[in-house]
Amino acid sequence: MTFKSRLLVTVAVAAMSASAPAAAETLTLYCSPQIEWCQLVIEEFQKATGIEVAMTRKSSGETYAQLKAEKDNPKGDVWWGGTGDPHLQAAEEKLTLEYKSPMLDKLRPWAQQQAKQSGYRTVGIYLGVLGYGYNTELLAKKGLPEPKCWADLAKPEYKGEVQIANPNSSGTSYTTLATMVQLMGEDKAFDFLKAMHKNVNQYTKSGSAPIKAAARGETVIGVSFLHDVVTEIVEGFPLKSVSPCEGTGYEIGSMSIIKGARHMAAAKKFYDWALTPEAQSLMVKAKAYQLPSNASVDAPPQAPKASATKLIDYDFAKYGSSEERRRLLAKWDKEVKDLPR
Ligand code: F6P
Repeated sequence: MTFKSRLLVTVAVAAMSASAPAAAETLTLYCSPQIEWCQLVIEEFQKATGIEVAMTRKSSGETYAQLKAEKDNPKGDVWWGGTGDPHLQAAEEKLTLEYKSPMLDKLRPWAQQQAKQSGYRTVGIYLGVLGYGYNTELLAKKGLPEPKCWADLAKPEYKGEVQIANPNSSGTSYTTLATMVQLMGEDKAFDFLKAMHKNVNQYTKSGSAPIKAAARGETVIGVSFLHDVVTEIVEGFPLKSVSPCEGTGYEIGSMSIIKGARHMAAAKKFYDWALTPEAQSLMVKAKAYQLPSNASVDAPPQAPKASATKLIDYDFAKYGSSEERRRLLAKWDKEVKDLPR
């Protein structure tokens, strides 16, 4: 090729790349709350920023396991929602990135505390209270007494009538396991879990599956966060929610940027946007009834009333540590999961 023709090719290539449209900014989101809320959030974020989002929904424990598996070759950018304990565990293992959003001081104290506790590798985005719900029609049809306490779930009359998720995959169920240990002490908690196991018809993967099953008459009782019971009641299903008489635990639903995120600028934009009042007001439209972390957004009127609940002083430092998670789950796998019914 002569010098002149080489020059012409170079100029032509330069002209082509100058006129090619810039590639759209993208974001890969790992989402752990209700799928309806995940979908609405990505739609609105795309509208607000033009950033294209690829989203997958997985339960909290599953997403935490995925972050560990992808540690050397991260594929996700932001992990949005899911119970706070596995976000704290991911922070401890430095699977997530330290980031202080300019929105931080607009958040309720528990959300800021979650950030502080993790060395700013996660932040609270909502709060949800644990409990259970039962199908009122099925309960009446079977002539069963109204359950009111955690202890009721272990009574022989509810044999085969209780559904709860597996604590390995589900944050709801890990919160339940940690709550029982805090409420009863470890020995009594495992006695309770073994007795309840006789009544459990299925350990599901996702935390909200049991209450959806109760709503549709597939089980009488579903252990779940109380806001997930409200979602089904709002949909018109015959459910009653129970705030257990002994008291109960709660979650600080959290958000983290994945360390090594390939789309870091988009990840930070999403993170800051997700803490705004505009983003947090979307939850009601998705029939999600947690308490939002932005202090200027009120809880929806349908949301479970904190005053109707005896909350324990949940020890996030202890139950959000990787070692305690491993120990409790191994014990549950060994002593509870495979017991004969
Ligand atoms: O359905 C919503 C929700 O209860 C969130 O409040 C919670 O963080 C998440 O689901 C937990 O889901 P899972 O138990 O499947 O991890």
